Amino acid sequence: MSDLAFAVLRTLANGKFHSGEAMAQQLGCSRTLVWQAVHHLESEFGLTVFSVRGQGYRLPQPFALLDVASIRATLDEYAANVFTLALAEQIDSSNTQLMTRAAQGAPHGLVLAAERQTAGRGRLGRRWQMRLGAGLTFSLLWRFERGLSGLAGLSLAVGIAMVRALREFGAPVSLKWPNDVLLDGRKLAGILIELSGDALGPAAVVIGIGLNVANPGEVDQPVANLADAGIKVGRNELMAALLNQLAQVLSQFDREGFIAFREEWLGLAAYLQQPVRLAFSHGQPVDGMATGVDESGALLVDTADGPRVFHVGEVSLRPQP
Ligand code: BTN
Repeated sequence: MSDLAFAVLRTLANGKFHSGEAMAQQLGCSRTLVWQAVHHLESEFGLTVFSVRGQGYRLPQPFALLDVASIRATLDEYAANVFTLALAEQIDSSNTQLMTRAAQGAPHGLVLAAERQTAGRGRLGRRWQMRLGAGLTFSLLWRFERGLSGLAGLSLAVGIAMVRALREFGAPVSLKWPNDVLLDGRKLAGILIELSGDALGPAAVVIGIGLNVANPGEVDQPVANLADAGIKVGRNELMAALLNQLAQVLSQFDREGFIAFREEWLGLAAYLQQPVRLAFSHGQPVDGMATGVDESGALLVDTADGPRVFHVGEVSLRPQP
């Protein structure tokens, strides 16, 4: 039913009325199936569809679906050469899919964007959920020349690419170690990096990004979105801006590592010189003052027991309550 629901959505996307009969004819199915697909758009995808006797169905406003041609039209030359774009209407998780394709030899620079994820994943085993059309969920495959051991700090560098892109649209975003993008102190976007390869040889890295353009619907933590902050940008345009910056940052990271980005990261970081609490999946939280990051992107914290260094991994940071 999801496939048919997406087909109906493509027709309704212009915001105009479409009769059930016309859609049934166009899609080669019965009017009952069209009605069921409309119901699916409402009950499963969380969309509102107006239904008016004698006129048909209409969305409250036009719906801009992700579109490869629109994204490519805004990519700069460098990014256009680096990235190959693929779109999926509905998949479990763009990271999961791309990890599988990476293992099967998918090319460097493959980008997979999903309109809808049924099992979107966040860091630390969390879920990543988003109402249809409320944001961007995509992953990209980058094959680094440097081995896994040279990739420390990569997630912080990806955060920098996102901030650079978002600031082009006037979003006053900052970064929370290791790689949450914050707007007004709340999470706007998250990054999930998954690696395969060995310590010295070339590494395949899947970089997954979830970003709230509008209210994502019910999620399990306080989050921000661009629309509520008065920032109007289409998803295709924003995705192109992110890819433009990612192409630059990832290439430079491959050549120079995190050290090239450390100063910029420190200038964008929230909670520096502030009391923070570090929580772990196992063990007691640690309180202290965040003082910076080292040349590998590890967080430096002054604690009651002296200075400590925390590496990106099973740890999350909060301001102290
Ligand atoms: C986090 O902050 O916990 C990371 C969230 C990452 C979510 C994105 S959405 C696209 C990609 N596919 C996934 O399953 N997760 C990432």
